Amino acid sequence: HVLTQDQQKQLAAQTAVQYIQDGDVVGLGTGSTAAHFVRALSDRVQAEGLHLTCTTTSNRTTALAQSLGLPVYPLEQVATIDVTVDGADQVDPALNGIKGGGAALLHEKVVAHNSKRNIWITDESKYQPKLNGYSLPVEVIQFGSEHLCKELAAEGLAPHFRLTENETKLVTDSGNYIIDIKIPAEASLTELAAALEMKVGVVEQGLFLNICDQVIIGHADGTVKTLT
Ligand code: A5P
Repeated sequence: HVLTQDQQKQLAAQTAVQYIQDGDVVGLGTGSTAAHFVRALSDRVQAEGLHLTCTTTSNRTTALAQSLGLPVYPLEQVATIDVTVDGADQVDPALNGIKGGGAALLHEKVVAHNSKRNIWITDESKYQPKLNGYSLPVEVIQFGSEHLCKELAAEGLAPHFRLTENETKLVTDSGNYIIDIKIPAEASLTELAAALEMKVGVVEQGLFLNICDQVIIGHADGTVKTLT
């Protein structure tokens, strides 16, 4: 009996939901794994009558959480977040990761930065020894973005604009574009993150370094591994 990738995500989400306590301010992540968590959280609230305050990392997650009856407030209106639970595209043994596959990296990073604890939930395919070689989303303002893309190409970062299903440039919740680059094989993650953030027109990049406190991984064999 082997769990599918989606069942592994669900298993991680159901494990993470046990960490939520009555009265918590909870940050809700974005993506298919985070959506499993939102559903599991709503089930617990209904079964146990927990009093929670939720804030989210995307318009998509707000819509889902509200449709399930969870109380969602804008980040500006909540006190410090006790715990944020989010997915990740890749995570390494040092709990550094890449996020933004769902284009929500900017709000995800702001919410994570304002959270006392950050838990990531993933299926086993996300856990990788190194982040080098993987795709990294960079959120950029629209103005001048073609020039910025050429600049990234000249540095050998293999950039391309994230497109929608209709082949138009994807626009984020903050009205920006996403340029996906490739993390070079030998790059230092801290140096790459700093260099990208220095670039004029870059709003944020998807390397989340020293942000995650705990990773919960659902495995195909039905076990759950927790890394701290
Ligand atoms: C959203 O921008 C991302 O950071 C997601 O958390 C990440 O892409 C994981 O997505 P899935 O849970 O759908 O794999």
